[in-house]
Amino acid sequence: MKELKKVSWRSPSNIALVKYWGKHGNQLPSNPSISFTLDKCYSETSLSVSEKDAKDKDVQLKFYFDKKENLAFRIKILSFFEGIAKDFPFLSKYALAIHSTNSFPHSSGIASSASAMSALALCLCDMEAKLKSDKNKTDNDKFLKKASYYARIGSGSASRSVYPVASLWGETAGVKASSDEYAIPFEDEVHKSFKKYQNSILIASSAEKKVSSRVGHALMKTNPFAKARFKQANQNMAEMISALRSGDLEKFGTITETEAMTLHALMMCSSPNFMLMNPSTVAMITKIKTFREASKLPLYFTLDAGPNIHLLYPENIKSKVIPFIQSELSEYCENGRIIWDQIGKGPTAIK
Ligand code: PMV
Repeated sequence: MKELKKVSWRSPSNIALVKYWGKHGNQLPSNPSISFTLDKCYSETSLSVSEKDAKDKDVQLKFYFDKKENLAFRIKILSFFEGIAKDFPFLSKYALAIHSTNSFPHSSGIASSASAMSALALCLCDMEAKLKSDKNKTDNDKFLKKASYYARIGSGSASRSVYPVASLWGETAGVKASSDEYAIPFEDEVHKSFKKYQNSILIASSAEKKVSSRVGHALMKTNPFAKARFKQANQNMAEMISALRSGDLEKFGTITETEAMTLHALMMCSSPNFMLMNPSTVAMITKIKTFREASKLPLYFTLDAGPNIHLLYPENIKSKVIPFIQSELSEYCENGRIIWDQIGKGPTAIK
């Protein structure tokens, strides 16, 4: 059938500084979170619509990942569409085709749900606006808020990927516009010392995650420390916001590392329990701390729900940090694999 319209978006991944871990209701967070938007780790997604038989009310979808049809992803997307179908009537009106790729290798152990789901949500909102010739599309703030809202329903952390530099998701004391339903931009609040921050991702293992984030979030429902954790996350948000505003790299780094370790500690004391670091992760963390103590440089790490390390540091110490990574850390990375990323400018529509 003839293709009627097509939209394409590139959207980045993000790295949480204060972590979202635990949720309720329809993907609502148990505590607020804040992240840096990445640059080189992104997904590119296109959505096209074609005519279909008007009597057929089912969603007709073909999904391609890296140019190959992917049935497992298709099922996930269909279930996401089911939850939002009433807001996007075009989903059942046309035959849909989605093509998606990631800039980072599929098997790098880097979570792709934030970039993939934000790219898809941007495509959905853009397509809907185009089909309706919606004037609201020209209001970029409204458009991004809406994209963030639907990205959240696809994957909580994806809500934070639609904004440049930094993004905050979840009701936060003292941040009036904050909401559990969508993320808000935080770039304007971030001190200039952070604007060119580097994020070098040390791949300790590219194996698939041992625990899906869906299972991880659910384990917080019975975690004996959940209440204390949610309280701590709110305190850390307040401290992190003040560090980001004032440009306090040390305070920023201390909270970032505490958050990473807490995320892993929570997994270790869940029932069932999980160990998401591996011996290389532990060896690298030890070396990073020793290097920081000796050099007094503001080099800090964070972790996702996996063994890979995200090193965070300002651009002006790059010439001292890169030789350290290469001489002391790369031997712990799987096949020496490192992704040299940095803070990014947020999503872009692809012409
Ligand atoms: O967006 P999800 O459901 O994949 O959860 C993400 C959870 C963490 O990456 C561990 C933390 C975060 O805030 O991004």
